[in-house]
Amino acid sequence: MAADQLSPLRVGIAGLGTVGAGVVRLLQENRDILQQHCPRPIEITAVSARDRRKDRGVDLTGFDWVENSLDLASHPKVDVVVELIGGSEGPAKTLVEAAIAKGKHIVTANKALLAHHGTALAVAAESKGLGLAYEAAVAGGIPVIKAMREGLAANRIEQVYGILNGTCNYILTQMRETGREFADVLGEAQKLGYAEADPSFDVDGVDAAHKLSILTSVAFGCAVDFAGVRISGIRNVSAMDIAFAEELGYRIKLLGLARPTASGIEQRVVACMVPQASVIAKVDGVFNAVVTKGNFIGQNIAIGRGAGAGPTASAVVSDLIDIARDRILPAFSAAAESLKQMPAAARGSHVGAYYIRLMVVDKPGVIADIAAALRDENVSMEAMIQRARHPGNLVPVVITTHETTEASIDRVVARLAQVKSVLEPPHLMPIEMLD
Ligand SMILES: NC(=O)c1ccc[n+]([C@@H]2O[C@H](COP(=O)([O-])OP(=O)(O)OC[C@H]3O[C@@H](n4cnc5c(N)ncnc54)[C@H](OP(=O)(O)O)[C@@H]3O)[C@@H](O)[C@H]2O)c1
Repeated sequence: MAADQLSPLRVGIAGLGTVGAGVVRLLQENRDILQQHCPRPIEITAVSARDRRKDRGVDLTGFDWVENSLDLASHPKVDVVVELIGGSEGPAKTLVEAAIAKGKHIVTANKALLAHHGTALAVAAESKGLGLAYEAAVAGGIPVIKAMREGLAANRIEQVYGILNGTCNYILTQMRETGREFADVLGEAQKLGYAEADPSFDVDGVDAAHKLSILTSVAFGCAVDFAGVRISGIRNVSAMDIAFAEELGYRIKLLGLARPTASGIEQRVVACMVPQASVIAKVDGVFNAVVTKGNFIGQNIAIGRGAGAGPTASAVVSDLIDIARDRILPAFSAAAESLKQMPAAARGSHVGAYYIRLMVVDKPGVIADIAAALRDENVSMEAMIQRARHPGNLVPVVITTHETTEASIDRVVARLAQVKSVLEPPHLMPIEMLD
């Protein structure tokens, strides 16, 4: 180790909320273990947040309080800026850009920033030989970036998918266990602090899409393409769909899935059915999971806590240890300048099985109309559930299909929506036949 590596790595932290305060606490409480793992001391020298008077439950004495977080970029006693403010634009982006320009390494947990500007920031950092590390940004405490970029680097990655949002997984788990509807469970999750007051980034799939776009880049060596992610969330998942999924041998999960296809990279965030026997089906509550399929490793699965002060701080500090050890790797799996610009897979090209639930007036001929719509689009039915007959009443009819294209199923659904006896827009959900 070079002599100057034993001088402390001086850290400036911007943002002292859940994650920032967690990082301060970890560096203080685990000082002995960090010293053992990394002879070069990691020392916080400066911190910044909006409100200096706020009690953050951690001891900030001895740190330089910086009123304007942007000043951390040129702070003479800071080697690494740890950006824990959040947001794809505004102060977080300004700070990271300025800090790179001033020659400081970056550690961040900010998936929104990386999803929108990851490639450009990596190019800027790498052109100056600086680290841009973000283990905490994807799946929180699960060291998935390190696993993919280092441990699995010898593989051609064929597919990556996972449960990337703990709030959604918690809500879906609660819905299944209690039979309650989405809105009811969301309200309770907000009261318990498992969901934000404005839950849209989580429940509409945006947060998972941020993380997926980063994972995709690391997995396939392509530039981060957040705009190429097809995003849907869990607002439309009903207690009835969850019950039917159970009956059919599936569980409903919000997954982020990415794979290369003939027409480009397919990136989807979608509530989908997965076989109850699959590993991912058993990952419940706030837990996250990431499954990577490589051509030599086969299937690799990592499960852990995706959020919270402790797991996220653990990931942030692991990045600091890398920098203290002088292990500066490209931000993604290849030098940022060489990341490929790959097109997004063509719309409608996804091939898979589907679940369709229709609410129909129970009268003769309905099933024949449904069967005709499927037949005309060459979509073959795998199973059908028709609830007890109540002539004249609204009853659910559930169909599962064999593999077909998304374009075909969209045409089937559009046609079914026109059938007179179908009284609600059809509920469509992909079925992912995962191991
Ligand atoms: N929470 C998690 O479990 C988790 C997990 C993975 C990744 N992340 C990511 O980690 C980042 C931080 O998340 P968090 O949950 O810790 O957020 P948070 O609790 O809302 O904390 C944000 C912090 O940023 C500070 N801040 C806001 N605007 C600022 C500005 N202009 N200048 C300086 N400081 C400013 C706030 O100051 P005040 O405290 O004074 O208001 C606060 O301390 C986000 O990018 C998030 O996506 C979070």
